[in-house]
Amino acid sequence: MAEPVILVTGATGYIAAHTCVCLLERGCKVIGIDNLSNSSPRVIERIQQITRRSIDFHRIDIRNQTALTAVLKHYRIDAVIHFAGLKAVGESVSEPLKYFDNNVCGTVTLLRLLQQYGIRKLVFSSSATVYGEPAAVPVGEAAPTSATNPYGRSKLMVEQMLQDIVRADNSWRIATLRYFNPVGAHDSGLIGEDPRDIPNNLMPYIAQVAIGRRPYLQLFGDDYPTEDGSGVRDYIHVMDLARGHLAALDRLSAHDGSFTVNLGTGRGVSVLQAVAAFERVSGKVIPVQRTARRAGDVATCYASVHRASELLGWHAEHDLEKMCADHWRWQCNNPEGY
Ligand code: NAD
Ligand code: WQD
Repeated sequence: MAEPVILVTGATGYIAAHTCVCLLERGCKVIGIDNLSNSSPRVIERIQQITRRSIDFHRIDIRNQTALTAVLKHYRIDAVIHFAGLKAVGESVSEPLKYFDNNVCGTVTLLRLLQQYGIRKLVFSSSATVYGEPAAVPVGEAAPTSATNPYGRSKLMVEQMLQDIVRADNSWRIATLRYFNPVGAHDSGLIGEDPRDIPNNLMPYIAQVAIGRRPYLQLFGDDYPTEDGSGVRDYIHVMDLARGHLAALDRLSAHDGSFTVNLGTGRGVSVLQAVAAFERVSGKVIPVQRTARRAGDVATCYASVHRASELLGWHAEHDLEKMCADHWRWQCNNPEGY
């Protein structure tokens, strides 16, 4: 049988890079596109270094219909994993149109062309952010959805579009994956998360404090109704997450229909627990300055993982220590990023 041909949008981004490694190791042909707005072209070399296989990479914006058409015409694509998107919550509040244009209009352009070229298998990167403030944890896929910022709204809008598309034409097979908090890196230390400015997310911030790029971590709120007062999240190793995409593709290939599934560990970890684990693994002290809560943050959010297990036969394998150890190796090998 011919190797499956997978188009990966946002291919040089953090989660996509790790997923490309898994796809190549599985024997897929990978066509990567990215406009490099939030990633480095070096990622491609690193992926090839890890896997000793090559990717066809095209520097393309998904909103560029002409360029995208050329790619879709050139390859016989079996499925698409759609990672491309902007993800900075704060920026989305100050520049909402940028987020709707990129994340929503970009996806509309992509979907229109996939429809035109008869490509009907899609995996979409959604987010636990669509649960807003969860009424109960662990949060299951049937929980009510809401958005607390334009970024989250852009994810929710795309999810709703996808549901309408499937309703109108059931030959589509779409996997909507709601990621919880991806952290860690490939254990080669060659690829990992490389924030352009001040990191928005906890783990990259801790890593930059540990390496000496920043003096201390600001703890956003120590008065949440949690065990130690700090926020609780479901951190998931990016390689577990990457494997989850392969499991989703397998399911789409074997069964009709579409589904929405959480990708998390099902375990809640507080900010202070994450800091302690990183200190243990790195041998560094992470100074913490307690500050006010960050606007829009929820106290506790972690996933119900039953559906992922039943539908995909997938579960996260790596624990918090491994997440920190791999993140730290990546940070030490690449102190200034790529
Ligand atoms: P990332 O920024 O590292 O990767 C996204 C990639 O998409 C970048 O390489 C960027 O250059 C590219 N891109 C953005 N707009 C594009 C466009 N118009 N055309 C072509 N390429 C474009 O982010 P990530 O953390 O790897 O996230 C990947 C996806 O997963 C995003 O859709 C994000 O919203 C979603 N997600 C991320 C998280 C997280 O915490 N990292 C959590 C839930 C969901
Ligand atoms: C985790 C915890 C913070 C930084 C965000 C997006 C969400 C999704 C994942 C894309 C919280 C605390 C953080 C710091 C801190 N992204 N914190 N000091 O907020 O769960 O989710 O990323 O879809 O949409 O909102 O992740 O890593 O920002 O924060 O104390 O410098 O760490 O308050 O409790 P979050 P995070």
